[in-house]
Amino acid sequence: MMDKNNSIQRAYSRRKFIKNTGLMGTAFAGSMVSGKALAENYTSSTALNQAGHFSRLGPEFIYLNSGTEGSMPNSVIESFRKNIDQWASNPTDSYETDEILGKHQHYNREKVARFLSVSKDNICLTDNTTMGLNMVILGLNFKATDKVIITNHEHNAILSPLSVLQEKTGLTVIKRAFPAANILGTMNSDELLEFLLPDTDELRGAKALCVSHVYPTTGVRLPLEALRKKADALNIKYLIVDGAQAFGMVDISRGRDNITHTDFYACPGHKWLNGPPGTGILYIKNSRIRPPELYPILSQRMTKYSGYQNEGGEPFPMAEALQVRGCSNAPGFSAMLEAIKFQQSLGGAELVERQILSLSQQVKDFILSRSPEALVSPFKTQELLSGLTVFFPFNWDKPDQVFHDEKTANLIVQTLLKRNIQIRSIGFDDPFGRGQKRYALRVSTAVFNTGRQIEYFQKHLKEILKQIF
Ligand SMILES: Cc1ncc(COP(=O)(O)O)c(C=O)c1O
Repeated sequence: MMDKNNSIQRAYSRRKFIKNTGLMGTAFAGSMVSGKALAENYTSSTALNQAGHFSRLGPEFIYLNSGTEGSMPNSVIESFRKNIDQWASNPTDSYETDEILGKHQHYNREKVARFLSVSKDNICLTDNTTMGLNMVILGLNFKATDKVIITNHEHNAILSPLSVLQEKTGLTVIKRAFPAANILGTMNSDELLEFLLPDTDELRGAKALCVSHVYPTTGVRLPLEALRKKADALNIKYLIVDGAQAFGMVDISRGRDNITHTDFYACPGHKWLNGPPGTGILYIKNSRIRPPELYPILSQRMTKYSGYQNEGGEPFPMAEALQVRGCSNAPGFSAMLEAIKFQQSLGGAELVERQILSLSQQVKDFILSRSPEALVSPFKTQELLSGLTVFFPFNWDKPDQVFHDEKTANLIVQTLLKRNIQIRSIGFDDPFGRGQKRYALRVSTAVFNTGRQIEYFQKHLKEILKQIF
């Protein structure tokens, strides 16, 4: 009886999910009917029945902050627990030889690679985005004469290893500034990339371009295919991308956001994918890369590249050298696969992206309808959109009155939190800030959020904005 009810609910939820994404009547609708696996395994997160699949969030809590951390569906928590139990009951075999939990991680790397349409030797499982970026930035053989391009909105996960390099080698870091928030929202992708990366002597021939796929500050998505073209036109050797705000939200396995347009792509399992904490992925395009081009800085396998051990033979895969680094979060890696399965059960990355963007559009439209000047995130160009909506606080009754200070943004976040709604404030460089950060509000619309939750959030936001002067 229970099972029958569940399956009816799942089928209903899936229909609702597909309806939300505007895919009814398309090929997806067909696969809904005919895809036996989907029908059987579908775990609604739809209009996303949080209570059913993200029950730890609780039915009363409206969580709109996946940009900081995602939650986990029940299946992921169960898998994580099961793995921990298995580890505790047989630690040595778990670490040394177990196919799923063991130190080499061939099985989990293969599965992740398949999900991303790449090969196992392109994939290293990491603790987080920061680890992946550090492995790349500190591992590449940068010289004092090299130039690296970043923007003024990069996260510390890029800035920190680059600062180490600057101190150690003296290499040049060129920081390109984003346009002011009020211009950003109106630009298309070509205009933005031209603004960020003009064809100048300064940028031409840089060794690396280190940028974010989706910016945590503004929600701007930089399409990877266009970035690659830019990098090639400027004769930049490496395109290194921080995918912290993209994986699990953007379909990175195909099209203009395919990770294969990059040389290195680091991302987490613990944000938009809703995998466990301490999980991430590093993609390395050149699976045959080896020292002295890239050193495995966090590894137990550097000896594979030294002396006679690898003369003339196939180079030891760098992804594997970086994987074997002592005891890692293998129980988490395996549970991250469960999060991937969960996403597949919803119809896959493309459908999830559409659902997230459609919820995010609901938030963007709400702000645009009242105070267009307050909206920071792009809203016109499809390629630049993401599930992050960033806007400055404004006075609801006098919508021209827009606030940029930290205190107001934090006050709104705290007031919403008292009403069980979690968003966050975010500070960033903006030309109008004249050297001071400007603070805005950031709303993350995740796959487990619902249209009704967004309406509820909007109602409370409006009440609060009516009280700020
Ligand atoms: C753009 C960006 N990069 C890196 C990180 C750090 O992510 P992780 O915890 O996976 O290292 C974050 C976290 O918010 C981020 O927004």
